[in-house]
This record gives sequence, C-alpha cells and structure tokens, in this order.
Amino acid sequence: MYISGLTLINFRNYEYREFKFDCNTTIITGNNGAGKTNIIEAVAFLSAMRSHRTNQDNDMVMLDSEYCVIMGEFVTNNGNEKLNILINKDNSKKIKFNNQEVKKLSEVVGKLNTVVFSPDAMEIIKEGPDKRRKFIDVAVSKIDKKYFNALQIYKKVIRQKNKLLKHFEGEDKFLVLETYNRMLAENGSYIEFKRRFFIDCLNEIIGDIYGRLTGTNDDVYIDFESQVETADKSCEEIMLEYENMLDEVKYREIERKSSVKGAHLDDMGFYLNRRNAKKFCSQGQQRIFLLAVLFAQTEIALAETGESPVVLLDDVLSELDNDRKKFVLSYISKYQTFITTANNEDALLPMIKDYEIIRI
Ligand SMILES: Nc1ncnc2c1ncn2[C@@H]1O[C@H](COP(=O)(O)OP(=O)(O)OP(=O)(O)O)[C@@H](O)[C@H]1O
Ligand SMILES: [Mg+2]
Repeated sequence: MYISGLTLINFRNYEYREFKFDCNTTIITGNNGAGKTNIIEAVAFLSAMRSHRTNQDNDMVMLDSEYCVIMGEFVTNNGNEKLNILINKDNSKKIKFNNQEVKKLSEVVGKLNTVVFSPDAMEIIKEGPDKRRKFIDVAVSKIDKKYFNALQIYKKVIRQKNKLLKHFEGEDKFLVLETYNRMLAENGSYIEFKRRFFIDCLNEIIGDIYGRLTGTNDDVYIDFESQVETADKSCEEIMLEYENMLDEVKYREIERKSSVKGAHLDDMGFYLNRRNAKKFCSQGQQRIFLLAVLFAQTEIALAETGESPVVLLDDVLSELDNDRKKFVLSYISKYQTFITTANNEDALLPMIKDYEIIRI
C-alpha cells in the first residue's frame, strides 16, 4: 500500500497544510523544531489510532485551537481509501473511513499499515516492560483486528477487577471476580497466543537481518516472558492454563488488592549472543538490534496482510554509518518510505532511486 495524500488542520504546528506524495521515498528536511516528526506522527496516528509520542491525543491539537484534523488518502489492494480523524481538545474523536462514520477504533486500526522507527523507539530496549508491551500491542493490533479488540476488553476488565479488589467484601463478590477472571482468561489467552506467534515470527527472521546489517554471525534472540506457558500451545490450551492461573492466585489478589497475574504483566527480553541487550549492548548495537526488529516487523506485516506497510524513519539515518545507511535504504526500497533528516540530505540522494524532497 502507499499513502498518496495527507492534510493537516490545527495539527501541532500546522494550521493548514496539504501534502501529496508521488514518489516511493519522501525525504522531509528542515531545521530542528520545524515540524518533521509531526508529519511522521500524523501518518503513524492514521495507522495505529494512537501517537507514538504521546498517550494524550489532545497534545496534538494546536495550542489555542479547539480541535485538530488528520486526513489521509492511501491506496491498498482494495483501491483508494480515505481516513479522516478529528480530535477535540477534550480528547473525543470523530473518525470517518471512506466518508462513513466509524464507531469502533478496531474498524480502522491498521487500515493504513505503517512501521515506525524513531529515536524514541530505543525505549523498547532501554526502558520498562510497559514500553515493550506497547510496541508489541501496536504491531500486532495493526495486523489483527481481533487482537486489538481483545486488548481493549482486557484493559477494561482489568480496571474493573482492580476496583473490585480494592473493596472486596461479601461472598457475592466472588461471583463477580469469577466473571471477570473468565473474561480475562478468554481475552488474555488470545493476547498471549498472538504475542507468542509474533515473537516466534520475529525470531525466525531477525537473525538473518541482523547478520546482514552487521556482517556478523551474532546470535540474536527475543525471549517472550509471559505469565503462562505459550510455546507450542493452542489458544484453547493457553486459555485453560490462564483460568487455572487466575484461580490459583485469587486469594493473593484479594489480599494484595490488585491483579498479580496476567497479560498486562508480560515482558520481552532482547538477547545478543545470549546476553541481555539492555545491560550489555552498546548504544549502536541496540540501535541495530531494533532496526532488525522493525525490518522483521515490516516483513511480518506484509506476510500477514498481503499489503506492504509504509515505513517511517524519523531521524534514523543520521545515526548510522554509510554502509549501514546503504543497507537500510536498499532493504526498504520495496516499501514506500518517509525519511526525516535535519542534516544535509545530499549524501543520501545517490542511494535512493525514486525520491522527492519536502522542505519545511
Ligand atoms: N500542540 C502544539 N501546538 C503548536 N505547536 C506545537 C504543538 N506541539 C508541538 N508543536 C511544535 O512543533 C514543533 C516540533 O515539531 P517536530 O517535533 O516535528 O520538529 P522536528 O522538525 O522533528 O525537529 P527535530 O529536527 O528537532 O527532530 C515545535 O516547534 C513545537 O513547538
Ligand atoms: Mg524530529
């Protein structure tokens, strides 16, 4: 798929701006603070229905404005598609897909599929488990609507369950707890099943990509640290185990007044030559590891949906040496790509075939 047009209204520093994209690669240049990342963010939002930079949607509304609008036009195997999003200052949203009002986010998440690489992505390796869960949740949601739905339900039920556990009095509360646990097992098992599948897919291809990026035979591996055993298990088997797990901890949860087990506590470990990348890898190695993960994500998105995702590279190339730049640009040449750079972009141009430059 490819994106052919983007219109921004009151979006961050853009009061009104229309972009048309005609080439395979769009290079966005401009000074620091000019609004390059803002364009990437708008495209990424159309794809994931959330920003990769903020959890507060109204951060994107231009200061002193009441709302902002992102309109995207893109071409998929189904033909021309149009996605319009209006975000109000109070965080409410109105979404239209091909001019029809959309009631549920799951109907539009991933319609436009993107893979985003930005300096912030380093947090996936460097920071806490919530960043890794966000990464996998966004990646899988964009290729699996059912996953996005399961996640929405799961998060809602966990909030309700925690409320219940805070004020747990009386026998009838056990019935409510059981109901919540059943819903968590149903949705949590699907989440675990798909996370496992995604990580298995990553592991299948990431070694090869990392090897080609670095010219080494290094062993790279992503470990899924889940709450239940998922390896080689069906979704039904995971669900049974999940139910038992929640049943076993219920008294502990009542005592602690919070949910102590479940998909909301999963984590992933990134290993280079069997050592944890977070602790042992240099900054450069971590960056290349992540690049390999994101390339692998691109391949998985293509394989799972039959659509080639749009690749968004925000400030990535300037950090890489020339050989790595060449490899990255040739690897992604089969995908529509957006590249931002505050540096002189001239050095990049001989490495790219079909490009246009947007100066802002
Ligand atoms: N809600 C908002 N309303 C108005 N302006 C905003 C809003 N949010 C951010 N901005 C402005 O957007 C600009 C930042 O844009 P952006 O992050 O896209 O810059 P950039 O070109 O990527 O810079 P760099 O090269 O440093 O990465 C800043 O000038 C900031 O003040
Ligand atoms: Mg930027």
